[in-house]
Amino acid sequence: MLVTSRSYVEYEAMFDLTELPASVLDCSAGGSSFTAEAAARGVDVVAVDPAYDLTMPELVDIVRRSLPVGNDMVDANADRFTWKWYGTLQKRDDLRLEAADRFLQDIGEAPDRYVAGSLPELPFEDGRFEVALCSHLLFTWAETFGRDWHLAALRELIRVSSAEVRVFPLVLAGTGEAVPFLPEVLDELDGVRWEIRKVPYEFQTGADEMLVITHS
Ligand SMILES: C[S@@+](CC[C@H](N)C(=O)[O-])C[C@H]1O[C@@H](n2cnc3c(N)ncnc32)[C@H](O)[C@@H]1O
Repeated sequence: MLVTSRSYVEYEAMFDLTELPASVLDCSAGGSSFTAEAAARGVDVVAVDPAYDLTMPELVDIVRRSLPVGNDMVDANADRFTWKWYGTLQKRDDLRLEAADRFLQDIGEAPDRYVAGSLPELPFEDGRFEVALCSHLLFTWAETFGRDWHLAALRELIRVSSAEVRVFPLVLAGTGEAVPFLPEVLDELDGVRWEIRKVPYEFQTGADEMLVITHS
């Protein structure tokens, strides 16, 4: 799997973050600069990803190698993408490069913000974060992880959050097709409310919705 580097502005749009919560977990954060930039805005923010178990040279290598690989996937499915949010490929590449640089700088300077861990078992206490975000892992890799894993992963994100979980996108990587087991997984969640909410971001055509799970 790629260790991609989405930027703060992409997260802001994907998760419709009109206000920043006081404390946030970025789960499957990869090489994103969200954590660095949210911390600079005063948020208590932690990033978790299995890739943080790698040595620094290995992490630099996989983050750098993931930049062009992401573009290959877009090229292979060009008719499934829209450029209305990014405008141009150059703009998207620039955001990703800046985000990768910012991430690599921040993990060097503030390593405590970056915790190695994997869903469906995260190394945090119950309710540790007000909001848990998950970008481009759940649902997008549904063919790799399957239904039961997704249910366990959502329950774990609910466990470590006290107010909300937000997940984007809700479609498969590349093709942008719907995830057949999404409705039944949501039906199995207890003690929470959920909604599928439109967001101001779209790259895979039609993928302009996030899942918002709210603690009751
Ligand atoms: C496509 S990247 C997304 C990175 C970042 N969130 C972004 O939007 O650019 C997917 C990330 O999920 C991480 N990952 C893979 N398996 C995971 C698991 N079981 N739990 C948490 N993260 C995982 C990978 O290491 C990778 O960094």
